[in-house]
Amino acid sequence: MQTTHRPVISATGLFTPPESISNAELVASFNTYVEQHNTAHAEAIAAGEVAALEPSSTEFIEKASGIKARHVMAKAPVLDPEVMAPRWDERPDEDLSVLAEIGVAAARDALGRAGRDAADVDAVLCAASNMQRPYPAMAIEIQQALGIDGFGFDMNVACSSATFGIQTAADYIRAGNARSVLVVSPEITSGHLNWRDRDSHFIFGDVATAVLVEDAALAPAAHWDILGTRLKTVFSNNIRNNFGFLNRAHPDSADAPDKLFVQEGRKVFKEVVPMVAQMIVDEADRLEIDPQGLRRLWLHQANAGMNRLIAQRVLGHEANEDESPTVLDTYGNTSSAGSIIAFHLHSGDLAPGDTGLICSFGAGYSAGTVFVRKAG
Ligand code: COA
Repeated sequence: MQTTHRPVISATGLFTPPESISNAELVASFNTYVEQHNTAHAEAIAAGEVAALEPSSTEFIEKASGIKARHVMAKAPVLDPEVMAPRWDERPDEDLSVLAEIGVAAARDALGRAGRDAADVDAVLCAASNMQRPYPAMAIEIQQALGIDGFGFDMNVACSSATFGIQTAADYIRAGNARSVLVVSPEITSGHLNWRDRDSHFIFGDVATAVLVEDAALAPAAHWDILGTRLKTVFSNNIRNNFGFLNRAHPDSADAPDKLFVQEGRKVFKEVVPMVAQMIVDEADRLEIDPQGLRRLWLHQANAGMNRLIAQRVLGHEANEDESPTVLDTYGNTSSAGSIIAFHLHSGDLAPGDTGLICSFGAGYSAGTVFVRKAG
């Protein structure tokens, strides 16, 4: 069978949970929790022993982040001030796990769009920041559910998992170790979000995406050539999640807030914007692409202000929605899936020859760039 060792994106897939929470609904629930907490602790608050909680506001959320709503796998328990977490029945080991299920849905969407039979796929990478368990790998469960004969493994590079997955898949194609690789990013972020934390309760949403990376010889006529991929990590404590099995070694703090998502949002904003803008410009230079000539940027979807600044530095002018589309307004931050959702929903209108950039950034810090050109 012919092989070019040239990786392309054959198709992408998306699974969006049907339920969505608006800022108004989220803030009403949060503020009820705050009132209940402050009433229950009124005496201790008056005595200065307990700090009163402050209410959240829809105006703040939209202004600070650009987020207006987010999809979730289980809306009612998240909005219940007594629960404020996702809830569903635990599934027996024989059943497909919930994270694999939404990954499979996104993968099937991608395979269908590429006209590809699962039997033609060689490998599955589950590239995500919210794994349901350490093992067996989510990727192997997804592989089994799809009927893929090959191999799979999980990789977690937080919000950059999908771009790291795309480079890994592209490297398998370049090396000839695989011809068709699914990069699946199921993100049930509602599990790691502290819905009781005013600073971050509005940030995340649930979703799953899939990217089919293939050898050009195998790909459908309508595909995206991968011009180059670049990865970067720089250690930072500013986005952290200390959840893990070693929490058992210090049970007193096993449920402390740092076992969920915590961040220094301001510092992240300030440090990541210049790092990513520079990385994009340097990589464009290496690939001999004029960054100002990029037709579209599909940026990580964490904060509208960050994307505005990064796009401005790359394109040399303030980007409009056509040049740098936003999906975080309705999806929230979906961790590694964000830039892939943007690409999936906003790439169909580009013309053959158009060049664009998929770019992620987040905890680690980690960042990844995938420059693509529409074939045809
Ligand atoms: N409702 C109302 N006010 C709130 C609030 C809420 N939910 N949360 C915080 N505030 C208040 C703060 O108390 C603070 O008040 P003060 O000025 O009186 O002290 C003020 O709003 C500003 O808070 P700050 O945390 O500095 O907000 P911000 O402008 O930095 O926005 C983020 C917060 C998280 C939206 C923003 O920092 C961000 O998106 N950063 C990047 C995050 C990111 O990309 N993370 C990657 C994750 S993968």
